Amino acid sequence: METLQRLDAASPDQCRLTLKPKTIPADAWRVPLRLLKYKTLESTNTTAYQLGERGSPEWTVVVADRQTKGRGRNKNKWESVKGGLWFSILLRPRISSAKLSILQFLAANATRQALEDETRLKIQLKWPNDLVTNRGKLGGILVESKTTVDKVAFAVIGIGINLNQRQDALPKGAVSLLRETRTRYERLRLLRAIVHTTATKLDDLDKPSSIMKEWWRNCIHRPFHVQITCHNETVSGITRSIDEEGTLLLETDDHKVRRISEGTLRLLDDQSG
Ligand code: ATP
Ligand code: BTN
Repeated sequence: METLQRLDAASPDQCRLTLKPKTIPADAWRVPLRLLKYKTLESTNTTAYQLGERGSPEWTVVVADRQTKGRGRNKNKWESVKGGLWFSILLRPRISSAKLSILQFLAANATRQALEDETRLKIQLKWPNDLVTNRGKLGGILVESKTTVDKVAFAVIGIGINLNQRQDALPKGAVSLLRETRTRYERLRLLRAIVHTTATKLDDLDKPSSIMKEWWRNCIHRPFHVQITCHNETVSGITRSIDEEGTLLLETDDHKVRRISEGTLRLLDDQSG
């Protein structure tokens, strides 16, 4: 009940742009979609998660013009000014919770492909959850979920893409599609392309090796010299492959093989290997 009130008694600024969720038939988007558009939200992931707890059906999609508390991994702040594409997809995948990590890679593949098809810009992936161009970070994916024992009650795929922001509205190291292609993009058109591609790729959720092969093919640091930091430890080496759980295999500078399942990766300038 409290969740209900929090969602419905939004401040005027947080008002929903569509009075009722817009239900879009499956033929247009490949799935029957329930689209909720907001002017401002703290985080589309938070709202989608609350909707998940209230029993909203899968393919409920929450999109906001701006987020005041957009977040990335490890509660990192995600800058979400107007002009970007900030949205979350609620899914109820019938997989065990051990298989959840694959969703992030599947969503990254779908987003990359959809954006590349729509813009013709070369977009690549950086472990574990970034979409990048040669010049910087274009977007990121944040999957959050509710699990019971080993089952997934629901998962929220949060996707953030810098779309029509000018360079001065972007954080350091970030790029937008506008900056990269000198073209402005219609937000809902790209949203639709990403949802459509995600729905198509979800048919292969039980084929993790093909998901990871696609991810690896489009990975920007394959096989380059990188540095990975995790829990105050930094290692460098060459990323040689990725396994079905999304764990990176790093050949360290002293030629040992390390399996790395979390951390922040930076491409080193020398690019040896
Ligand atoms: P990175 O993804 O850059 O390697 P990280 O893995 O440590 O960093 P993430 O949670 O994946 O952290 O992403 C958060 C990072 O993204 C922050 O360092 C922040 O500077 C950057 N960032 C925040 N908002 C945006 C944005 N709109 N576009 C691009 N980058 C952003
Ligand atoms: C990252 O690079 O760490 C992932 C960033 C994910 C940002 C998106 S924007 C829509 C959704 N709502 C959030 O608060 N985060 C995700």
